[in-house]
Amino acid sequence: MGTTTKTIFSSVLLCSLLLQLYFSEGVVAQEVVAKSESEALGETEKRETLEIIIGGGGSPAPSPEAPCPPPPPKLNRLDRARRALLNFKSLIDDPNCYTQNWVDGTDTCDFNGIRCATYPTDKQTAVAGVDLNGARVTGQNGCALPLSSLLGQNQIPELTFFHVNSNGFAGSVPTDVINFPYFFELDLSNNKVKGQFPLDAIKSNLLVFLDLRFNELTGPIPYQLFQRDLDVIFINNNHFTQCLPQNFGSTPARYLTFANNNLTGPIPKSVGYAPNLTEVLFLGNQFDGCLPIEIGNLKKAVVFDVSKNLLTGPIPLSFGCLKSIQYLNLAHNKFYGCVPDNVCQIPSLRNNGNLSLADNYFNEVGPSCWSLIKSKVLDVSKNCIPGLPNQRSPTECYYFYKTKKTCPNPSSFYTVPCKSHWGHPSSETNVPTSAPVTYKTLKPHRLRL
Ligand SMILES: *[C@@H]1O[C@H](CO)[C@@H](O)[C@H](O)[C@H]1NC(C)=O
Ligand SMILES: *[C@@H]1O[C@H](CO)[C@@H](O)[C@H](O)[C@H]1NC(C)=O
Ligand SMILES: *[C@@H]1O[C@H](CO)[C@@H](O)[C@H](O)[C@H]1NC(C)=O
Repeated sequence: MGTTTKTIFSSVLLCSLLLQLYFSEGVVAQEVVAKSESEALGETEKRETLEIIIGGGGSPAPSPEAPCPPPPPKLNRLDRARRALLNFKSLIDDPNCYTQNWVDGTDTCDFNGIRCATYPTDKQTAVAGVDLNGARVTGQNGCALPLSSLLGQNQIPELTFFHVNSNGFAGSVPTDVINFPYFFELDLSNNKVKGQFPLDAIKSNLLVFLDLRFNELTGPIPYQLFQRDLDVIFINNNHFTQCLPQNFGSTPARYLTFANNNLTGPIPKSVGYAPNLTEVLFLGNQFDGCLPIEIGNLKKAVVFDVSKNLLTGPIPLSFGCLKSIQYLNLAHNKFYGCVPDNVCQIPSLRNNGNLSLADNYFNEVGPSCWSLIKSKVLDVSKNCIPGLPNQRSPTECYYFYKTKKTCPNPSSFYTVPCKSHWGHPSSETNVPTSAPVTYKTLKPHRLRL
């Protein structure tokens, strides 16, 4: 699974030939598929021959006294997809002429943005991927362009990916997607997709990449999302509301963005048990309550950003165990108390990391934090720390601290669930410095590495 998802993920970001990666490396989740598909790839050169054979086949001649007209010849996979694509072209305004070569005389597999592959079961050539990223197509004359015009009615059930970043698709997500047997990736980012979370669309067992950011989706995030085998969940910049489900930590995903929605309630404790969590953006919601100490369990977390919420309480000492963290952002909340020194000692933060605690009510920092302030890794502006510039006024701090504040189980905030192993020179040097992926999702354009 690890290699598969990594391969898929990087191929998405590089926008490279996804299918070829699957096929040539033979790393599809189901081995049977992998085998037949990689075999299949070698045969794509024979595509034209295959088409001719299938096209010439036709159905048996009707018998003379047949009461009904004969059934229309069954279209092969490619012809059926071609029909759907040409029909779609007839429905759109295409200001950038993205579909200019979708015309008679052009092979379907040469259509701009269309990827073909040999279908595993019957070895027919089929449209396996649609990539309209950045095409900016819309419905004609300002009419809405429903997603179902291309994704619906099982028109191209052979699809393994559907990438349509930055277009004018509207309406809800068709439920047909759940029936696509080899569907891995859905990218509907930066459209005008409406409705509730498209739960039916994520029922494909193979789906690993879900990008719904920058749409107009509403309602709660269903708990079923965290039961799926997704590696990437980008749903930032929608209008999702309510609390995150308690089972959040069941997700095997590595990259999650929930930023800039209208989510409320606490960050679920179970976040700390998400096994692969590497980057998570919760910023720009209305989360409240105290931070769960369980977050300190996230050994692989590189990015953890809860800025711009209504969170409060101290930073749990367990955060000193976030041994891979490079971007820890708690800015623009109502956190208070002492910034724990063990957090400021984390090597991955000290070495070109970013610890942003601005616009809170912290009133003390540990000795290791002072050097981080100097080196500009730690931003504590607009807090209540005596002796530092750019702090809140003493009056404002006085009124904040006047009312007593507590978190549930306050003593747990002093528990350090790991051995402090910092200070060894070796751990200071080997810090991975890959650029974070998730911050790029905060811009609507398609993702590229
Ligand atoms: C994610 O975690 C699960 C459960 O621990 C593990 O089996 C899987 O290999 C992990 N995937 C990645 C991509 O690390
Ligand atoms: C969602 O949040 C935005 C910004 O915080 C706010 O303006 C808007 O009223 C909220 N909408 C709902 C439905 O809560
Ligand atoms: C740290 O992150 C904050 C918030 O994203 C950003 O404004 C700031 O420029 C970053 N600082 C450095 C030194 O990269």
